[in-house]
Amino acid sequence: MNKPFCDWFSRPPAHCHDGVYYFDSDRDADCFDESDVEIWRDGRMKRNFHSNFFLDNPASRRLVDHIVGQGVPVVEIACGPGMGLTPSVKRLASGHLCLATDASALVIKEWKRYLDENETVGNLELAQFSLMDIPFRDNTVPAYSSYIGISSTRNGEEGHEQALREIYRTLMKNGFLYTIETTWTDTEAMLRVFRETGKTPWSGLDSDQCAPTWRERFLNAGFEILSEEMFESRTFTSDDNELGEAAEQLGIEIGVFSKAYILKKV
Ligand SMILES: C[S@@+](CC[C@H](N)C(=O)[O-])C[C@H]1O[C@@H](n2cnc3c(N)ncnc32)[C@H](O)[C@@H]1O
Repeated sequence: MNKPFCDWFSRPPAHCHDGVYYFDSDRDADCFDESDVEIWRDGRMKRNFHSNFFLDNPASRRLVDHIVGQGVPVVEIACGPGMGLTPSVKRLASGHLCLATDASALVIKEWKRYLDENETVGNLELAQFSLMDIPFRDNTVPAYSSYIGISSTRNGEEGHEQALREIYRTLMKNGFLYTIETTWTDTEAMLRVFRETGKTPWSGLDSDQCAPTWRERFLNAGFEILSEEMFESRTFTSDDNELGEAAEQLGIEIGVFSKAYILKKV
């Protein structure tokens, strides 16, 4: 791990391999396995790394332009197999200092392997840690970026609140959070899909009807909202995950919209 990122940590990692810090946070991660790795290796990571998805959409483009314009090191959270906004940042400014992170060791290991074998990109570090317990000191990080990272945490509303507390705590004063987060428009339809397929609903989903909006969550966490813009509004499909696939098969429409935010710690 290189500077400046290595200076921000408040405790040593559980282990370090090839310059990547691992904080043993898999219990908080999505349960990926070898079948996911096969898909990622079969071109998915390459496609994601070279995708124009966030550069072509005006709302996400504004986030990426703002990150590049600020020029400060940025930490991608819950980067997943898409790496969120980071590939777009690197496309516009290849030297921009980026640290991509996820709670899953498998995701981080596979990104390390992919980057080493396929790309010549520099200033792109990797680390495994959970948003529930970010291993950075208070007031150190100039900027975080995320694509549905906070939405992806477990434990429903409590998980969202804990992630936002940790992001806010570790951001420096006037630091930025650039994020795109999703809202389900019909949780009753989702619960029907879970019921009809005999699967356990995602934690917190049954209490989602009275959940606060993302705007409310960000304000409650102490952020100033510099911009809030619709990113996309669509129906959940089999391209998303197993739930989308089941919904399609059952003919149940699950609506979802995402908004792009530029937030500042004041
Ligand atoms: C659907 S992906 C999010 C999309 C991703 N940003 C992308 O661009 O592909 C969900 C990711 O969030 C990660 N995740 C879930 N909870 C987390 C947590 N508490 N801390 C860090 N990462 C987490 C999962 O391991 C998974 O890789």
